[in-house]
Amino acid sequence: LGEKIKPIVNYLEYSLRTEDLSIAKEYVRSSLFSENNELFKELTAKDREDELSLFLVAGSETTVIAMKILICLWATQYQKLKENIQLHGLSEVIIAELIQDSPLGSITRYCTESKVFGEHKVNKGDIVNIDVFIANKQLYSNQQCPSDNLKLSSNLVFGAGKHVCPGKNLALSELEVFVETLMTFDPADYDITIVDDRSDRAITFRHPLAHKIKRRIRS
Ligand code: HEM
Repeated sequence: LGEKIKPIVNYLEYSLRTEDLSIAKEYVRSSLFSENNELFKELTAKDREDELSLFLVAGSETTVIAMKILICLWATQYQKLKENIQLHGLSEVIIAELIQDSPLGSITRYCTESKVFGEHKVNKGDIVNIDVFIANKQLYSNQQCPSDNLKLSSNLVFGAGKHVCPGKNLALSELEVFVETLMTFDPADYDITIVDDRSDRAITFRHPLAHKIKRRIRS
């Protein structure tokens, strides 16, 4: 599916109008994607509703948390963020920051076969929870900061393998536009206070502490 719709993604993301764009458009308009297509025939109305709800939460909650994480960075480390963007580019910095503070903190898997990972053995049938935050930390523990060397291809911010996030490119495009706009505001013009009194963060949807941001009135 990814390859078939790629020309549309290229068009939406980079305004690239390639030759196969019309074929891709025809494909997404085909009966395969209509309401009563074969793909959903096994699902009850309730299952469809659940799947759609999950899709909406997977897409919106994570992106909102990522935006909040980036707002916190803007509020507390504006100069460093600005310099890093100038040095490495917007997209590299966004992914580097999300590696260090992942919006979705936990991935769950049902193991279909037994396997040994170093000192750990998982048995067929086990349910395994992977802490994305810790896994990324270990991956990058020998490096001072991911944005220093830009080896950013392997990380679990958007998962990996069969269930890798299908909304990854959309989310990253949205975040680029978001940060680009955010950086046009100077945090020195705002009073920024943390309004949350909890010090911990959830394991799954890792909302950062809420900040109250109020524009300073200049006399
Ligand atoms: C910064 C934003 C986002 C982050 C950090 C994120 C992160 C992730 C991660 C880590 C997974 C893998 C979960 C697993 O392996 O169990 C995942 C899966 C998924 N994401 Fe995202 N995501 C984001 C945005 C989006 C958007 C915008 C959409 C939809 C438009 C989306 C839809 C999904 C769906 C449907 C899955 C399940 C895929 C499957 O199980 O096969 N995500 N996401």
